[in-house]
Amino acid sequence: MTAPLPDSTSSAAASAAGATTVAIDLGDRRYDILIGSGLFDDASTWSGLPRAAVALIVTNDTVAPLYLERLKRQLAPHYKQVESVVLPDGEQHKNWASLDRVIDHLLAGAADRKTVLYALGGGVIGDLTGFAAAIYMRGVPFVQVPTTLLAQVDSSVGGKTAINHPRGKNMVGAFYQPVRVVADLDTLDTLPDRELSAGLAEIIKYGPIADEAFLAWIEANLDALLARDKSALAHAVKRSCEIKAWVVGQDERESGLRAILNFGHTFGHAIETGLGYGEWLHGEGVACGMVLASELSARLGLMPPAFVDRMTRVIERAGLPVVAPRMPIERWLDLMRVDKKNEGGEIRFVVIESLGKAGLRGAPDALVAEVIEAHTEPGQR
Ligand SMILES: NC(=O)c1ccc[n+]([C@@H]2O[C@H](COP(=O)([O-])OP(=O)(O)OC[C@H]3O[C@@H](n4cnc5c(N)ncnc54)[C@H](O)[C@@H]3O)[C@@H](O)[C@H]2O)c1
Ligand SMILES: [Zn+2]
Repeated sequence: MTAPLPDSTSSAAASAAGATTVAIDLGDRRYDILIGSGLFDDASTWSGLPRAAVALIVTNDTVAPLYLERLKRQLAPHYKQVESVVLPDGEQHKNWASLDRVIDHLLAGAADRKTVLYALGGGVIGDLTGFAAAIYMRGVPFVQVPTTLLAQVDSSVGGKTAINHPRGKNMVGAFYQPVRVVADLDTLDTLPDRELSAGLAEIIKYGPIADEAFLAWIEANLDALLARDKSALAHAVKRSCEIKAWVVGQDERESGLRAILNFGHTFGHAIETGLGYGEWLHGEGVACGMVLASELSARLGLMPPAFVDRMTRVIERAGLPVVAPRMPIERWLDLMRVDKKNEGGEIRFVVIESLGKAGLRGAPDALVAEVIEAHTEPGQR
């Protein structure tokens, strides 16, 4: 049984300036997502967190010059020592070597099990830092400070943490919840356009899977979002987090409902892994994957062809790819067979059953091949 998705709790206007909070309700692991402008430099953002002697900020060499000193200044009053590990930027570094650098830093400094980790950056840093927090001394608290749109609307929320393995994305990880998420919308000002669009892919995702009205809102406000209008961003981040909170609150460990958050991801991960991490951005893979998953929904007779056109249009307007790269079909299928949603060797896809409602289905290989072919760039097979 799934509980109905609650309506958005406040209007976009109310969330334009001040911070809003979305709660993730997981009993004694309940935590807040703070969303707004100016959060970074507001002392109250950083108060009331678990006390410790040491805080370790994990970030990368792109984000560090922008925000590391500011975060250090804010945290200094709360800890004896505020340390940092600056990793090389990129999805290809979401791996054992980077994880080891974080763990090694903690051990070398004899960091105790109260040490608080701060993930300062996008989803790569968030996933890796969360996993480090999950396994260091069997678990230390961590705070997500997402600085990409994608991380603010998706990866920092819900407690999935992981690193990649050469054989598959996010294949080594843990469910481990942060103690707070701080989504300062001002950090999005420095984000490259391509990354902004990648974040929009995950925002768009929430419409067809859970909230038809939100899809219509995105279509109507896409230009404002692309122009980084703060009140539009505030609403988009908040509504996305509300939907994710609603899903995760019912199915934290993905025994069922939570899988719907992977709409577009089965195809998208295949593109990401198939081309090599870093070639297509995660959000770009998901975007194109949503076109394919919409096509599959149509070919399974669940949705009208007009739905595929509608999704293609909004994804394209968001500056995202709608045409899949050419890969041999066996390669696609091999890549999709390692997906965590699969059971008993059958590939399972998130499909849209009606606007605002998603489900999981298997599909014959031949049909999957047709779906991919219908949205692949022309060229040799
Ligand atoms: N855990 C989850 O539930 C979940 C959900 C979705 C995605 N993910 C993961 O998230 C990752 C993708 O996250 P992402 O899209 O944030 O990528 P990312 O972390 O690689 O960040 C994108 C780029 O933006 C840079 N950057 C970050 N913040 C910036 C800022 N404020 N200004 C300028 N540049 C900035 C980064 O250094 C990087 O170059 C993938 O590994 C994906 O698997 C996880
Ligand atoms: Zn995603």
